[in-house]
Amino acid sequence: MYLFLRSADINDAATILEWRNDTLTRDNSFSKELIDFDTHIKWYESKLSDESCSLFILMDGAEKIGHVRIDTVNDIGRISYTIASDKRNMGYGKKIIELSEKAVSSRVKVLTGIVQSSNEPSKKCFRSNNYAEFFSGDIVSYIKII
Ligand SMILES: CC(C)(COP(=O)(O)OP(=O)(O)OC[C@H]1O[C@@H](n2cnc3c(N)ncnc32)[C@H](O)[C@@H]1OP(=O)(O)O)[C@@H](O)C(=O)NCCC(=O)NCCS
Repeated sequence: MYLFLRSADINDAATILEWRNDTLTRDNSFSKELIDFDTHIKWYESKLSDESCSLFILMDGAEKIGHVRIDTVNDIGRISYTIASDKRNMGYGKKIIELSEKAVSSRVKVLTGIVQSSNEPSKKCFRSNNYAEFFSGDIVSYIKII
């Protein structure tokens, strides 16, 4: 296993759309509809050019494993992430959060995550990285000073 984050670029657009439209990813998202290519490209290009947003691909050697986006307001970042459906339950979700902290630590002081309470794998990923946990209805919020 040789894990690292690299910056995402326009060549990752199709892979990220595939991951965004995965059934479990849509189920766990706040908007459930499938995303069409044109909508995705507009959104993706705006994120790539947005200085308050960092987009990374988790690599295991030469293989793309997942992606993580960190949207930042001042020095507070919010994590959104997906692992490819055939790579889940292998520890990558925990690692992508750990590596994200290192990737943004020079400009972000606090990282947060907002998870649906039914999303057990994601809750485990934040807990194992020692995030504080707050329940509010169907939502669980995670926060950590990094
Ligand atoms: C959430 C997600 C990124 C986790 O990635 P992952 O690589 O599977 O995570 P890990 O393998 O590091 O850890 C998953 C943990 O959840 C556990 N798990 C998996 N399915 C589970 C379930 N249905 N109920 C309870 N625990 C479950 C695994 O056993 C593992 O725990 P363990 O290490 O204690 O055994 C992945 O499931 C995913 O991409 N989901 C779709 C998108 C998504 O939900 N993103 C997060 C939005 S907040």
